[in-house]
Amino acid sequence: MSKMNSQQDKSSLENYQNIILQGDSWELVDVLPEQSVQMIVTSPPYFQQRKYIKKDTDGSLEFGREATVQEYVTKLVLLFQKLKLVLKDNGTIWLNLGDKYLDNQLLGVPWRVALALQDDGWLLRSEIIWYKPNAMPSSVKNRPTTDHEHIFLLAKSKDYYYNADAIREQHVTFSTKSKMKGGRNHFGKRDGTPENGKNKGDSNLHDGRWDQAFHPLGRNKRTVWEIPVGKFRDAHFAVFPERLIENCILAGSTEEDIVLDPFMGAGTTALVAKRHSRHYIGIELVAAYIKMAEERIQKVQMQLL
Ligand SMILES: C[S@@+](CC[C@H](N)C(=O)[O-])C[C@H]1O[C@@H](n2cnc3c(N)ncnc32)[C@H](O)[C@@H]1O
Repeated sequence: MSKMNSQQDKSSLENYQNIILQGDSWELVDVLPEQSVQMIVTSPPYFQQRKYIKKDTDGSLEFGREATVQEYVTKLVLLFQKLKLVLKDNGTIWLNLGDKYLDNQLLGVPWRVALALQDDGWLLRSEIIWYKPNAMPSSVKNRPTTDHEHIFLLAKSKDYYYNADAIREQHVTFSTKSKMKGGRNHFGKRDGTPENGKNKGDSNLHDGRWDQAFHPLGRNKRTVWEIPVGKFRDAHFAVFPERLIENCILAGSTEEDIVLDPFMGAGTTALVAKRHSRHYIGIELVAAYIKMAEERIQKVQMQLL
C-alpha cells in the first residue's frame, strides 16, 4: 500500500474534502486516496430493516436488502476491506449497528458483523451500548422491549489514535448516585466529587492519594452511553443523535483530521465534524438525503462564522 506523499495525491485529497459524493459507497470508496482519513464513523442500513430508496427506484445498490444475514455480513466485511485502504494506519472505525428479529428469533447481527470483521484482521477494541431512554415503545409481550444499539470501535493497528481525555465523564463516586455510601459519609460531603475539590480540608484524604485515585479531568468513558434518539427522524428515518457522534469524533480525531462516513444519510457525521473543526468526506446513495445534509451543514457553518 503506497503512502500519500506525492503532490498529486495531496491535491486530489483536497478535491474530496468537505463534500458528499453521490452514489454507491461500494464503488466510490475506491476513488478516495489511500491513507487519507483518520476515522470512519458510520451507520450502514441495518439488515432488512427499512428501504431508503423509494419503491419505484432500483434498490439493488442499497445495503441492507441482502437475502440472508450471511450475505449482509460478507458484504460489509468486503466493504471494510476497501475502507481499510483509505484509513490511516493509526485510524479507527466506529460502527453503529442495530439488531433484527427474523422468524421469532434475534439474529445477533451486530455481533455477527463484529466477529467477522475481527476474523478479517480488524482489532475489535470496544463494544459500546447506545442506550436510548426514549426508544419507541413496542407491543411485544413475550420479551423485553429493545432500547439499545451497538457501536463497535475497530482499529486498523494496535497503535491507534484514541484521545481518552476528550470524552471523560464526571466522577460519580461521592455523588448522591454513588453506591459507595460509606465513602460519601466518610467525607461527610454530599455531592462531593474530585472536580469539586471535596477533599479540601479533609485530613483523612490528602491530595496525593486523591490524585492517584481520580483523574482530574474525570473518569474514563464508560461503555454504556445514555443518549436520547434525535428529533430529526421525520425527514430521514435513522439519523444519529449528534451527541453520539460527538463522542466518537472527539476521541477518534484531532482538529483538521478527515472523518469519513460512507453512509452519510442526512449528514450528522459531517455537521458534527465541522462543529469540531474536522473535515469530512461523505458518500450517500440518495440525492434527497444529500440535499438535506447540505442544508444542515450550511446551518452549522453559518453558526461558526
Ligand atoms: C442508517 S442511514 C444513515 C443515517 C446517518 N447516520 C445520519 O445521521 O443521517 C443509512 C444510509 O445509507 C444509505 N445507503 C444505503 N445503501 C447505500 C450505498 N450502497 N451507498 C451509499 N449509501 C447507501 C441510505 O440511503 C441511508 O441514508
